[in-house]
Amino acid sequence: MGGRTDPLHGHPVHGAGLGLRRAFAAAAAEQPPAEVDFWEIAPENWIGVGGRWGRLLRGLTERFPFVCHGLSLSIGSPAPLDLDFVRKIKDFLDEHRIRAYTEHLSFCSDDGHLYDLMPIPFTDEAVAHVVRRIRHVQDILERRIALENVSYYAAPGQRLSELEFIDAVLREADCDLLLDVNNIHVNSINHGYDANAFLDGLPGERVLYGHIAGHDEEAPDLRVDTHGADVIEPVWGLLERAYRRFGVFPTLLERDFNIPPLEQLTQEVRRISALQAEHRPRNANARRGRLAYA
Ligand SMILES: [Fe+2]
Repeated sequence: MGGRTDPLHGHPVHGAGLGLRRAFAAAAAEQPPAEVDFWEIAPENWIGVGGRWGRLLRGLTERFPFVCHGLSLSIGSPAPLDLDFVRKIKDFLDEHRIRAYTEHLSFCSDDGHLYDLMPIPFTDEAVAHVVRRIRHVQDILERRIALENVSYYAAPGQRLSELEFIDAVLREADCDLLLDVNNIHVNSINHGYDANAFLDGLPGERVLYGHIAGHDEEAPDLRVDTHGADVIEPVWGLLERAYRRFGVFPTLLERDFNIPPLEQLTQEVRRISALQAEHRPRNANARRGRLAYA
């Protein structure tokens, strides 16, 4: 089964990335920022899109590495999987030579806002249900997928800890982890746990790539994962801790609201690269250089 394709690090892309949004897609296509090593898109926003936007995407996917982060697979939902939709995803991934497909370890509410993703009950039955569905999706896509640790605002019917739940799903489905450090921070405040301990408990060997983002502070004990603000220092600290603990992995910035000009976003992308350079073993840089000129 396809999946990790970078022979050096076992990752499908490398470096620092940015979630592509329509607000700056034309600017990115006209003058691609040198800071961005790879891009991420939600396939739902681009499948079946032709005309000017379709050409713009084609031009970018032909030139740069892309990964896909889906919004509506609803992997935890009790409703049947939408197999036609999964087949459309496969065609899209193949057509644009997308390096990886990831989704949320949750299911969508009707209006599908990122911060309205519903939690899956942390139970053994839910693990078995989600694992069956992930395997089915991986079979259709003919690739491993990665699932993201999500932010959630209620955890009904909890029997397992969140860490036990994530670990069981990834292990039994044999899929990878999209590690979102902002979600860990948001959950740690909303649910009163230790973000460092949570991070340390994740199966680091399964991290395919990472997300970093900003969020909104509604109250001292309530954060909302809007991706509508700059990344805050404690979240940068978590990313640094993750690199120290698990080694450097490709990481991208997500921004969905209050989107500033591209030049401002690329400053945060540059900070990801700087952290990666700081934590990458020196011989890995040397090897990467040799490979680049081979
Ligand atoms: Fe994320």
